[in-house]
Amino acid sequence: MKFLALLALLFISASAEKSRFDNYRVYSVTVENYQQLQAIQYLEEHSDAYNIFESPHLNADTEILVPPHKFSDFEELTENLGMKAKLIINNYQELIDEEIKPSRTPRVDAQYDWVSYKNLTEIYAWLDEMAAQYSSVASVRNIGTTHEGRPIRLFTISKKSGNRGIFVEANIHAREWISSATATYLINELLTSQDPDIVDIATNIDWYIITNVNPDGLVWTWESNRNWRKTRAPVSALCFGVDVNRNFAYNWLTPDETGNLGASTTPCTDTYAGTSPLSENEAKAVESVFANNIGKFDVFLSFHSYGHYMLHPWGHTRGHSVDYDLQFAVGNAFRAAVQAVNGINYAVGPSNTVLYATSGTTPDHAYGQYGIKLSYTIEMRGNGNYGNYGFVLPPEFILPNAEEVVAGLIGLVNSARTYGYLRN
Ligand SMILES: *[C@@H]1O[C@H](CO)[C@@H](O)[C@H](O)[C@H]1NC(C)=O
Ligand SMILES: [Zn+2]
Repeated sequence: MKFLALLALLFISASAEKSRFDNYRVYSVTVENYQQLQAIQYLEEHSDAYNIFESPHLNADTEILVPPHKFSDFEELTENLGMKAKLIINNYQELIDEEIKPSRTPRVDAQYDWVSYKNLTEIYAWLDEMAAQYSSVASVRNIGTTHEGRPIRLFTISKKSGNRGIFVEANIHAREWISSATATYLINELLTSQDPDIVDIATNIDWYIITNVNPDGLVWTWESNRNWRKTRAPVSALCFGVDVNRNFAYNWLTPDETGNLGASTTPCTDTYAGTSPLSENEAKAVESVFANNIGKFDVFLSFHSYGHYMLHPWGHTRGHSVDYDLQFAVGNAFRAAVQAVNGINYAVGPSNTVLYATSGTTPDHAYGQYGIKLSYTIEMRGNGNYGNYGFVLPPEFILPNAEEVVAGLIGLVNSARTYGYLRN
């Protein structure tokens, strides 16, 4: 009995401990041949020590988090492989500490803002306030419950009947904080802006927005591990979490022409697809929005970070989609409108060939299963000429990022309309 109590105590104190990343470095490595690719993929699947930020692919850079006790191993590894490695972040913990500083300063008024990142409690309270304040046009409701019992919430805006719809999901990956900060900014603009372009898209389109698809994961990034990506459901004796953006039904765990699964069957990895399509509550919640609104949406958007990408289907195959030209043209209009604001240049194209193979993602599902042709993954700021930050984008970039993305959406809507979409 005593022993059990002690065990319980140990467990509680262990789970309350926050992961620290003191002196952890982030390297950007350039993968130039198959041998290098295999080596990084091996690390991704088998190493506890390293964290590969996004799946590596040939002829591209990938960022790797390296703990101090692995510095010399890593140096040797890159040397043996003849792989170029550039140090881009010298102390990951310093960046994490800087990131939440503004929220530690008590604000004079209790106003919500985009000067600091908000935790889940603050985001949900704000959604409630906005739904109450604009109750004639906005509402918020629960569409599911996470493994840890938190609600997954859908915010809707509809200013007139008969509108076509845009469905937005954000923060499906827990550590990508800028994605939900941008989603709340978008909601605020749609409800409060006087800018004629915003008033137009707010009035003539219905908006369905899930600011936080993965609430358990977000809370975990605040309380325990800033670098967490997946959900927090137990998936094996050792590990937690499913990558919800690999859990959707359309061509779930289907390899592409090169045999790349674009997801993992290993529970401990960051791209674990789950035990079956739509096995996770978070995916089921998103699915319910598609299923309950068939024929409603002309556009589906999945907000992520980072890398400045505007990605359209497919992820699960290297083949062009039937609607490739339309998807590229509208994506390109988004790109141009974003660039006009702060000069940030997004790369546009199919997920699989522009970035890497993925299967079971929401945009592939939105297009393949529900026929929503204008389905995109938007990879926002992280690294650029404004600095190298990865997922830990300093709060002073929330506003520039959100402003350029919303401008991009206006460009996207206008382009979609020229092809007959988003018209009543
Ligand atoms: C969220 O942030 C607010 C404001 O900083 C703080 O008062 C509150 O304790 C935080 N909530 C959680 C659950 O961390
Ligand atoms: Zn992501």
